[in-house]
Amino acid sequence: MPANKRIMMERLNAEYRKLPRRMRGWGLSKNFVAGEGPIDADVMLVGQAPGRHEDETGRPFVGISGRLLDTLLKKAGLERSDVYITSVVQFFPPKNRAPSDPEIAACRRFLYRQIHIIEPKIVIVVGAVALKELLGRVGIMKVHGSLIKKDRDYFVTLHPAAAVRIKRNLPLIEGDFRKLGAMLH
Ligand code: URA
Repeated sequence: MPANKRIMMERLNAEYRKLPRRMRGWGLSKNFVAGEGPIDADVMLVGQAPGRHEDETGRPFVGISGRLLDTLLKKAGLERSDVYITSVVQFFPPKNRAPSDPEIAACRRFLYRQIHIIEPKIVIVVGAVALKELLGRVGIMKVHGSLIKKDRDYFVTLHPAAAVRIKRNLPLIEGDFRKLGAMLH
């Protein structure tokens, strides 16, 4: 079963990687950042889009936000290696801008197919872009720290980049991850 899932994910990534060649007027980086983590993870995390560091290394959440994410996961009793980590869009938006609606739309089927392959018990929804995409909601400051039940469980938190930029967000995010830990364990 995990072997099948691995093959499905490899095929999906091979197709996703080619997306820039198929789309006219592609405005994102052409470097693909694949999702990372155990193929049968119970916990999946969906961020916004890769940053420059991720673009250069081809790995998700390895820049400053990624290092903070590792410490936040520990507060929830999780190791990075427990979690399948991906993003709404898996190509870097130049100048670190947010991905546009058409860019999110182009990547949408790949995001949902990843969730379908992993079949996590819970998805950590990281930041406003993921919140809008996965749950169709806006106003992350009102819903962060809450568990939302849909086809599966979704736990909403701020993006670690929000704490890198604005220090007063850090205790909010830390509180979210502690709450997540209490729910999981
Ligand atoms: N931030 C994200 O939202 N996704 C990444 O892959 C890296 C940083």
